[in-house]
Amino acid sequence: MGRHVELKKAGINHKGLCPFHGEKSPSFIVSPTRQTYHCFGCGVHGNALGFLMEYSGLGFVEAVQDLAQQVGMTVPEDERSAEERERAAQQKKRQATLSDVLLKASDHYRLQLKKSPRAIDYLKKRGLTGQIAAQFALGYAPEGWRSLASAFPSYEDPLLAETGMVIVQNAEGPEAEQKRYDRFRDRIMFPIRNVQGETIGFGGRVLDKGEPKYLNSPETPVFSKGRELYGLFEARVGLRQRGYALVVEGYMDVVALAQSGFHNAVATLGTACTAEHVQKLFRFTESVVFSFDGDAAGRRAAGRALEAALPHASDVRSVKFLFLPAEHDPDSYVREFGAEAFERYVNEAVPLSRQLMESAAEGCDLGSAEGRARMLANAKPLWQALPTGLLKRQLLGELARRTQLPDQELMSLWQLGTPAPAARGGPAHETFDAFDGHEPFFDHGEPPAHPEEPVASGPPKSWKKKEWKKDWKPSGNWKRRGEPEDETLGTPRHQPAAKADHAVRMLLLNSAWWVQLSPEDQLLLHELPGVHGEMIAWLERHLINHGAGAWSALEAALAEDELLDRARHLSRDLHSEPEPEFEDFQAVIKALRLLQLKTESQRLAASNPQGPAFERFKQVLEQIRALEAVSNSPG
Ligand code: UTP
Ligand code: MN
Repeated sequence: MGRHVELKKAGINHKGLCPFHGEKSPSFIVSPTRQTYHCFGCGVHGNALGFLMEYSGLGFVEAVQDLAQQVGMTVPEDERSAEERERAAQQKKRQATLSDVLLKASDHYRLQLKKSPRAIDYLKKRGLTGQIAAQFALGYAPEGWRSLASAFPSYEDPLLAETGMVIVQNAEGPEAEQKRYDRFRDRIMFPIRNVQGETIGFGGRVLDKGEPKYLNSPETPVFSKGRELYGLFEARVGLRQRGYALVVEGYMDVVALAQSGFHNAVATLGTACTAEHVQKLFRFTESVVFSFDGDAAGRRAAGRALEAALPHASDVRSVKFLFLPAEHDPDSYVREFGAEAFERYVNEAVPLSRQLMESAAEGCDLGSAEGRARMLANAKPLWQALPTGLLKRQLLGELARRTQLPDQELMSLWQLGTPAPAARGGPAHETFDAFDGHEPFFDHGEPPAHPEEPVASGPPKSWKKKEWKKDWKPSGNWKRRGEPEDETLGTPRHQPAAKADHAVRMLLLNSAWWVQLSPEDQLLLHELPGVHGEMIAWLERHLINHGAGAWSALEAALAEDELLDRARHLSRDLHSEPEPEFEDFQAVIKALRLLQLKTESQRLAASNPQGPAFERFKQVLEQIRALEAVSNSPG
């Protein structure tokens, strides 16, 4: 972590500015003993691998390899032969070499920009400050055929051609007949970087009129247009701050949006948005807003983006579509009307479900049977591309309604040829099935990264009904109103009581943690049934009056209020465990939160799909899945 974040020693830990959210005073703590990081500002935490994955957007395997390489280890890879490994290592080395060349070119172009009043003037006219230009490392490729010759020792270096920076005419012919010249001449240069920040290619814009308006690097071993997104490296912090990604069409849109405070925009590289693009984005955020011009071309592009997004639109993610007035792109819009007006557009963006409906219904007369049939034909591949889940289930209902078919009929029509849920999942009686058993309620997440891995059968274990029962007995505020009180402190102790014990005990020993909790977590603890909730209420009052203190002070106060016995009742020995850390405490709270949500969802599961309780049910499920996703991710 110290390679990426400047860390200073602070007691037994290290401290620095959190790389995942903008901050001025350090709240990012790295613990060498625990080998973990934790940010008290934004809550991110994890281990070294998790850090690398989050920070560099690497996959797990890549992160392991990266880490191993840094300490001179090799990751054993059984599947690959020595030759294949050798080849991969060569390829990696080659790629690093290519990025070095591209970075050198980028530095050259940046320098040239400083020397060109005409280019600077162009960028200024487009509303950019030097700061934003520097952030995106914008540059200028001068006029003339061999500007790069001054930046490299040899203009004949084959790497210049391999990176696409130099074009070799008659490349196949004898060397004497070859002619070399710069690909980019008299253009504003937008370096394109991968998520690790390595320069992998360029987009170059003409300053005046000219064709083509934008020229891009060709595909090379480091540059793949279907995979890379312009601005993603620069947007990493912005994505976290804003909580969503804005996908726009042009380089200038990305830069102009950053200039207006939207540091969360990325653009495809002059190509349609692919599923791979979307997948990459979802490594950084749970929420994506696509922005399109309001014209016909924009609508077509939206159709493409919809298809790319569908396979990734799981229930906990959000995908939306924003349509600007026909004559505008984000750059021109935000410059003319300002950031607030643009933000209003973002807030009104169309959710994926509606976009799917509208896209399927386009050009169909729903007043006729033919039109409705056509809409269904359009909708089928879109619907099928969705991952199994609530969204998919609901859309089926809505499509059935719009096309005047009974739900069940459409379901059996479209599910012909897919195995029955009992064959796919576990025994039906064990799964938590809110509907009618036609569709396994929960999917298995995304398809496994390695196709040879068998798909887990049945819903995740935690969803087995029996297990929750023993997990949690609803009581206190967490139970259905009007039901008789459950006793919580009876013997034998069941899990939630043990968890609540744990939470209260940790808090008594570290009362300063109380103020570090979010209001939601404080409320959760307040609502703990029975003695636990009472202890929390007491503690909060105590903290307001006396502030946080050592256990001895608290012990005396508890004794004074004749609560010491009750506190001790929570556990025979308040010091029986190793000194907990705040992270441990948060983990316990998260576990309690999950139990609370599961209890609530169990209660709501039988609610009427048309009623308001069902809305809440969906929310609860989403929250559960979000929480479980967080706890399943590394760290
Ligand atoms: P636009 O033509 O919409 O450009 O192309 P723009 O972003 O609004 O640019 P300005 O405002 O005129 O400077 C959108 C994207 O399509 C690709 C580029 O990636 C561009 O950012 N494109 C466009 C090309 O690759 N080549 C072209 O000739 C034009
Ligand atoms: Mn534009």
